[in-house]
Amino acid sequence: MAILVLGGAGYIGSHTVDRLIENGYDVAVVDNLVTGHKAAINPKARFYEGDVRDKDFMNQVFDKEEIEGVIHFAAFSVVPESMEKPLKYFDNNTGGMISLLEVMNAHNVKKIVFSSTAATYGEPKQIPIKETDPQVPTNPYGESKLAMEKIMHWSDVAYGIKFVALRYFNVAGAKPDGSIGEDHHPETHLVPIILQVAAGERDELTIFGDDYDTPDGTNVRDYVHVLDLADAHILALKYLQAGHDSDAFNLGSSTGFSNKQMLDAARDVTGKPIPAKMGPRRAGDPSTLIAASDKARKILGWKPQFDDVHEIIKTAWNWKETHPKGYDDRKGNQ
Ligand code: UFG
Repeated sequence: MAILVLGGAGYIGSHTVDRLIENGYDVAVVDNLVTGHKAAINPKARFYEGDVRDKDFMNQVFDKEEIEGVIHFAAFSVVPESMEKPLKYFDNNTGGMISLLEVMNAHNVKKIVFSSTAATYGEPKQIPIKETDPQVPTNPYGESKLAMEKIMHWSDVAYGIKFVALRYFNVAGAKPDGSIGEDHHPETHLVPIILQVAAGERDELTIFGDDYDTPDGTNVRDYVHVLDLADAHILALKYLQAGHDSDAFNLGSSTGFSNKQMLDAARDVTGKPIPAKMGPRRAGDPSTLIAASDKARKILGWKPQFDDVHEIIKTAWNWKETHPKGYDDRKGNQ
């Protein structure tokens, strides 16, 4: 039986497809290639190009494949864009989930691992953030994903579709052999932007705000390597295959790094000066996000291999140096 990966051509999706195949799974991928890259998909996976909201297309995929479970990455995920275009996020992310669950239920597929986010917590009341803490998003991206978690909960109650929601903190890095990595157009995330400056593609980094209530005034985030995240999806799948109940898990390192510290780490790793200036705050940014991640370690048996941001940045820099133009498919269609 196959595992269906939605959004398997994206950054985290493609690394997860790769790890699933390395672990002997039979994998089918659905991606509309709006932000994903065909070249990122491991060629051993069967690829279907289409949109998760297109029920006719999705029904055809579910008819053709014998699907045991679904891993869902097919969501827009840029916080600042969601502030400007909230309906785009509710349509694709939340609307896509409703469509998907209808198709899953019609085909009696009862397991889903979902790419959720720390952005569902909003501005935390306490650090580190526990899974049981209040979820009060400060941006439409987080709100769209919180709604998706709730829709899965009620679909479990009504139809018995079991889910694991994995709430990611900040993901970075690339497969260490440099064959796949992060390639967004436009790029908005801190680590790849810092590395674009290191590579001479941008003149300087602008750090968004240095007047936050943090040790150096810049935002603090909890970074996790993309392959450790990929492995957590496989463990979540096994957890559901073992018949456990629906649940949510944070995926982070439980250590915070400020934006300034990340810049210093990247200067160390690359040996480049990486010019930077301070700018105003970016709308929708919580001050500090650090995960309590013992639940995933204890219940899923998750053991992240990359526990040092220097190592994480090193793998991202290796990808950048070997792929200066990313996948070199600006329209995502190669
Ligand atoms: N930042 C800068 N300059 C830049 C880009 C980013 O200072 O040019 C700062 C941001 O203001 C923030 C930090 O770097 O303080 C990290 O920003 P990212 O855009 O890399 O990541 P976010 O923390 O906004 O969001 C990421 C994911 C979300 C996820 C969230 C959870 O994109 O999907 O982590 O922590 F929800």
